[in-house]
Amino acid sequence: MAVTIVSDVFHLVHLVFAAVWAGSVFYVAFVLLPLARDGAFTSTKPLEVASGKLKTISRVSSVVLLATGGHLAGDRYTIGSSGGQDLFASTNGQLVLVMLVLWLALAGLIEVGAKRFEAGLDGKKLREPARETLPLFRAAALVAIALFVVGGLITTGTAVRYL
Ligand code: HEM
Repeated sequence: MAVTIVSDVFHLVHLVFAAVWAGSVFYVAFVLLPLARDGAFTSTKPLEVASGKLKTISRVSSVVLLATGGHLAGDRYTIGSSGGQDLFASTNGQLVLVMLVLWLALAGLIEVGAKRFEAGLDGKKLREPARETLPLFRAAALVAIALFVVGGLITTGTAVRYL
């Protein structure tokens, strides 16, 4: 009973942080940076603050998702033993591994994007860093959406039915 409650809490926390992380990068990629690129800001300060906050959200979320995802994987998948879904051999297990790779890509794209964006702002430029880093943040937003597609394929059972 206690183990089930802990697992349910981990599952919930996993979903909540996934939504917060994906939502924040999506907003930056499709709202904030296009505004900055189009000259809506007159000072670098708000963009520096926004970039710093995105990095914090991203770092906290990535750690929480790794921990909760690792727990869920340990709870629901096996490696090499008979019985249960194998992490490497089952369709859903392989999708969890895809999730792990996408997690790394998402964290990396945001770190590199924010670093380059802040370096541009340090040079007292406003529109140029936004234009140059937009593709990185848009790629990160697409990776975040792909993570939800992968999660959905697992939990709806679609992957097992059709793949
Ligand atoms: C180290 C990284 C991660 C690992 C190891 C991991 C692992 C897992 C596992 C084991 C599940 C449950 C699968 C099942 O029900 O059999 C899951 C579900 C899910 N994960 Fe992840 N995950 C990771 C990162 C992420 C990230 C970064 C996101 C999104 C930003 C995400 C979104 C989801 C979603 C939407 C579900 C479906 C939850 C549900 O409705 O049941 N995961 N993940």
